[in-house]
Amino acid sequence: MPDDRIVTAARVDEDAQYEAGLRPRLLDEYIGQDRVRENLHVAIAAAKGRREPLDHVLLHGPPGLGKTTLAYVIANEMGVPVRATSGPAIEKQGDLVGIVTNLAPGEVLFIDEIHRMSPAVEEILYPALEDYEVDIVIGQGPSARTVKVRLEPFTLIGATTRTGLLTAPLRSRFGIAHRLEFYTPADLEEIVRRSAKILDVPIEDAAANEIARRARGTPRIVNRLLRRVRDYAQVRADGRITLDVAKAGLELLEVDEHGFDEVDRKLLRTIIDKFGGGPVGLNTIAAAISEEKDAIEDIYEPFLIQIGFLDRTPRGRVATPRAYGYFGLPEPGRDSRLW
Ligand code: ADE
Repeated sequence: MPDDRIVTAARVDEDAQYEAGLRPRLLDEYIGQDRVRENLHVAIAAAKGRREPLDHVLLHGPPGLGKTTLAYVIANEMGVPVRATSGPAIEKQGDLVGIVTNLAPGEVLFIDEIHRMSPAVEEILYPALEDYEVDIVIGQGPSARTVKVRLEPFTLIGATTRTGLLTAPLRSRFGIAHRLEFYTPADLEEIVRRSAKILDVPIEDAAANEIARRARGTPRIVNRLLRRVRDYAQVRADGRITLDVAKAGLELLEVDEHGFDEVDRKLLRTIIDKFGGGPVGLNTIAAAISEEKDAIEDIYEPFLIQIGFLDRTPRGRVATPRAYGYFGLPEPGRDSRLW
């Protein structure tokens, strides 16, 4: 009997496995984010020269831009292992104490979604980051006492979608902080060609360019589109990804010229159709399109703002003339001039 859970697990596994295979392992293999890469290069070389662990690193930016990848690249460059966890997975103070007291010298502790750590857990982290020690409470009630436990020097790499979500004390404990930006189409094209080589699928430059342009500036998306177009090339063509094959495959996937999905379109159409193009508040938009406010703010908005389809004003979100143009609608300003 088919079991949905197994199918789902297999899918997730497939994605993770491919992602892992396509991920760069060294800074020199990492494409794009030039400023971040150069800064890290300097910091890593300096720390290695001094035989010290790298200072704590905060990476922020929208999902899929390579924060986790970069954490593993940094550890590889430092020649140390990684211990990976996430903010919501660390439920109690004891969980974090267990993790940090077991770190090897110089090890990288990677905490994804670090903004979702509870305040109590965060408190344990401060002395761990600053002095490589934690305070453990032994016993209960009047006989309880605090014992300081020394830790091995380590590097924390924290990842978050927005630094604004972090408390100021936590933010200030990172010596190195970088924002990852959306990738240029040229960088994404290079990533497509690199991934195609690893996957051993022939691809025309024009096809790589076509896939790159529709990937919302995001490597995770570009790699996913490449894998689906590879499927299409294998089943509907001779296995080679030509421009025509790429276009047909992307059309079947309903990925439009900007890489928009249903939610992007619904978000923009709602602002235009229901709220006269805005300004309209984030809560209102979230309710109108039945999406999580956080997902809108972290995933959808940053790209729409970056490509100039959406504007964030003090009074709310506004659809730009470009957004009207995309749907073939007249701009409200121009329209009213006709009257
Ligand atoms: N695969 C995913 N992200 C990448 C990047 N930034 N450089 C090279 N390959 C990648």
